[in-house]
Amino acid sequence: MTLTIVVGAQWGDEGKGRIVDLLATKSDIVARYYGGDNAGHTVTVGGEIFKLHLLPSGVVHPHSIGLLGNGMVINPATLLDEMERVRKAGLEINPDRIKISHAAHIITPGHIALDGAREAARGENMIGTTKRGIGPAYNSKVTRSGLRMEDMLDPEAFKEAVYLHIKSVNHQLEKLFGADVLDAAAISKQYQIYAEKLSPYIIEVGEFADQALKKGSIILAEGAQGTLLDLDHGTYPFVTSSTPTAPGALVGLGLGIGSANRVVGVVKAFQTRVGEGPFPTELDGDLAVCLRGTGENDWDEFGTTTGRPRRVGWLDIVLLRYAVRLNGISELALTKLDILSGLESINLCTKYRIGDKITPTLPLGPSNLEGVEAIFEDLPGWKDDLTSIRTWQDLPEAARGYISRIEDLLNVPVKIISVGPERSQVIQR
Ligand code: GDP
Ligand code: IMO
Ligand code: MG
Repeated sequence: MTLTIVVGAQWGDEGKGRIVDLLATKSDIVARYYGGDNAGHTVTVGGEIFKLHLLPSGVVHPHSIGLLGNGMVINPATLLDEMERVRKAGLEINPDRIKISHAAHIITPGHIALDGAREAARGENMIGTTKRGIGPAYNSKVTRSGLRMEDMLDPEAFKEAVYLHIKSVNHQLEKLFGADVLDAAAISKQYQIYAEKLSPYIIEVGEFADQALKKGSIILAEGAQGTLLDLDHGTYPFVTSSTPTAPGALVGLGLGIGSANRVVGVVKAFQTRVGEGPFPTELDGDLAVCLRGTGENDWDEFGTTTGRPRRVGWLDIVLLRYAVRLNGISELALTKLDILSGLESINLCTKYRIGDKITPTLPLGPSNLEGVEAIFEDLPGWKDDLTSIRTWQDLPEAARGYISRIEDLLNVPVKIISVGPERSQVIQR
């Protein structure tokens, strides 16, 4: 059995796509297990940049099969667009290569309209969602009124179901939010066309994955979002509506306990977050601009999905300790180390002061971080450009010191160090 789970250890955008692309070289199958097109995963190969929202990042490798698991919420319009973009880049997209779970849920314009209306109604308490309809689609799922991919297999009945769903959303939009209603007839007709196009891709993904593992295939489960955005374990309510943490890979693909034998936690060398919510090590001013960039490089900290500037801060070991424990992380992949070059010194948050107590862990999880004070260790920075370095020995002493300190504090090895967005810009230990 070889199932490796790649999970975001922070608030998303850690560089999961980049690390999945690297690990996909030695995998047969790459599978997304939760989330939807709120995700934006970037893969850079030979200067060509792929931005993937629903297809697993591994599809960039011609040999790999891509699975979309039952835990996902899928906007068929985004998926078909993405399939077309990837096809135009010269990669094959067909039902032999891409397989979608019959039990994944479907996002409609109704869910997107509700996402917008709910955010507007929250006013100052908005979550800062990606407005992709994610929360409302999972809401339909848990209230057992959702549309599933298997419903597409009967396009005529599916059309009728979409029509009734939009009618019901319209009722909410009008009565609860005073918002504009949607054209149920036009949307249901459009969704029938999507159904005809996507039907050939729909299978029982859990069975396929299980059989593949038994035959000796290597599966890479690609997390979206990040640990601190997990619905149960994140900075609630400023979270997404699914389970991006590693155990979600089993539920979200339909695999049994015991299938996974390796959990790679992807960590950015500093901390970022988009959207609202607490952020104990957040920076502003010149240092923030230094970490975020100004938007001229593709890798600067502006959202892949929404273009919003990301909030930035120092690496937070208290939150990372929590992520290591929750996910059962066995090794770390550290990304964007190159961005720290040029700083005089680097702060690392190792503990929090809460009232008059100092603590290395979270007494009640991360949902109540307002008012905690980050306590920092001050480590020396380095001037050298790291982007051409390919071995541990060639890294400046201060950069090695920073990584070794992270390993000591977390008691987990950093096995992959990324020093640029390009596939080759990496140090493997
Ligand atoms: P994901 O959502 O976790 O897959 O991450 P995103 O793709 O949203 O954001 C990560 C950004 O950082 C992308 O633009 C990547 O190309 C870029 N990136 C990843 N690793 C590195 C790195 O080591 N150095 C630099 N400079 N950029 C990186
Ligand atoms: P990847 O996979 C960063 C954030 C949103 C918002 C919160 C809820 O690229 O790392 P949602 O639309 O999911 O209801 O929004 O979650 N969020 C992400 N932040 N990276 C992501 O995905 C995210 N997906 C959702 O910004 O704060
Ligand atoms: Mg992203």
